[in-house]
Amino acid sequence: MTKILCIGAGYVGGPTMAVIALHCPQHLITVFDINEKKIAEWNSDNLPIYEPGLLEVVQQSRGRNLFFSASDIARHIDEAEIIFVSVNTPTKTFGQGAGRTADLQYWEKTARMILEHSSTDKIIIEKSTLPVRTAQAMENILNTNAKGLHFEVLSNPEFLAEGSAIQNLEKPDRVLIGGHDTPKGQKAVQTIVDLYANWVPRDRIITTNLWSSELSKLVANAFLAQRISSINAISALCEKTGADVEEVSYAIGRDSRIGPRFLKASVGFGGSCFKKDILNLVYLCESQGLPEVAAYWEQVILMNEYQEARFVANMVSSMFNTLAGKRIAIFGAAFKANTSDTRESPALAVCRGLLAEKADLVLCDPHALENARVDLGEDASRVTFEKDPYVAADGAHAIAVLTEWEAFAKLDYHRIFDAMVNPSFIFDGRNILDRAKMHEIGFNVYSVGKQPLLHFKQNSTD
Ligand code: UDX
Ligand code: ADP
Repeated sequence: MTKILCIGAGYVGGPTMAVIALHCPQHLITVFDINEKKIAEWNSDNLPIYEPGLLEVVQQSRGRNLFFSASDIARHIDEAEIIFVSVNTPTKTFGQGAGRTADLQYWEKTARMILEHSSTDKIIIEKSTLPVRTAQAMENILNTNAKGLHFEVLSNPEFLAEGSAIQNLEKPDRVLIGGHDTPKGQKAVQTIVDLYANWVPRDRIITTNLWSSELSKLVANAFLAQRISSINAISALCEKTGADVEEVSYAIGRDSRIGPRFLKASVGFGGSCFKKDILNLVYLCESQGLPEVAAYWEQVILMNEYQEARFVANMVSSMFNTLAGKRIAIFGAAFKANTSDTRESPALAVCRGLLAEKADLVLCDPHALENARVDLGEDASRVTFEKDPYVAADGAHAIAVLTEWEAFAKLDYHRIFDAMVNPSFIFDGRNILDRAKMHEIGFNVYSVGKQPLLHFKQNSTD
């Protein structure tokens, strides 16, 4: 039996350890977090994050070889042979690299905590996404100890996407493990390869040097986000030219060199990773004297911000250039479907833009309202939070669909239309609604990257 500790019980640490525990009943896994409320929720059937299939996986191992704890960190650290670190690494908001590089304060505190409580050698694994060469910093903190201990630091970035985390962890495209090319480094890498080999085919486990592993995580997210910004840029052109962005993405996606995935035009991408990781990449390029490379990747973020702003501007101009006092139902707060996460959600960016226009917002989401209230901060007092979409749309001038929850596509839009103010507008920021049907019901329908379907002549000066 190996004792494994994970520090940080968030979107990454919790699901990852639950799946490791499920497939490795021979190992004892403890997930520690400083947030006691979160740990109490992990120990209940009301988990702190909404993720399809997660509760079932947790229930199979919890109390057997999977434990969630907010206390006794000294003992947990001392007993563990392997420690995964998945604490949060948000973008820095102060000092050097503010708005660009990662804030490593939680991370460094964790390293120092590990050092303080260790009396044996350990393998330390970076699971959080981190700037390249952070492993070096962790090694420097850990291995300049007076105790004569050796800590082997590995990088094992997580590629799961929220909403499909369990599926991604059960059948990953690949598992990436980076370590030093030294006997101790390679031995540690092999230990972690063997851990994943309990359920992941060996040919899907890739081993690299530490820096390649750290950089690959940033680059994977940058490439994925770049595809979305690319198709979103084309969506703007489609709206001007009469081309249909879904037809364009289908046509180009059939080229096997391009492939069909991640070509869905939308109101924009969100989530805790894309923006943060690209900013890390940009900062890295700048600090390495590569301003052209930095500017190239920064454009992916700027295009995303443009897409969000364009969506708001389109709503304003379509609704006769004023939203002041108009009730608008916002369908979706989460940054994507099947998650309660609202970090960097385009829905909240659109809400802020509409609030600046003094619109009267009713925000509706099946699982993300609590997080939305926190993330909106002071603006939350100007928003009504409503779980029932029929109540949200009652008396509204417009609906904006900002998260692709399946439930939003299945509503009775006849009933909704009858309860709205005329003329009624639908702005489908995720292209999930049957546009022709919506138009037939009576809505003026705006989609991303398509011509609007209207019941009146559009103002040609917009
Ligand atoms: C992403 C990566 O996919 C994952 O590998 C990494 O570990 C973490 O970051 P995540 O942010 O959870 O995962 O979700 P993802 O499915 O990648 O979606 C990100 C955003 O892009 C969402 O807002 C989604 O709605 C948007 N998106 C995605 C599009 O707008 N169009 C697409 O075609 C795909
Ligand atoms: P991610 O999406 O990367 O998993 P989260 O913010 O969801 O990020 O989770 C990170 C978790 O790490 C949080 O629950 C936070 O309380 C926890 N955390 C931060 N610092 C420490 C620390 N020093 N010790 C234990 N847990 C920590």
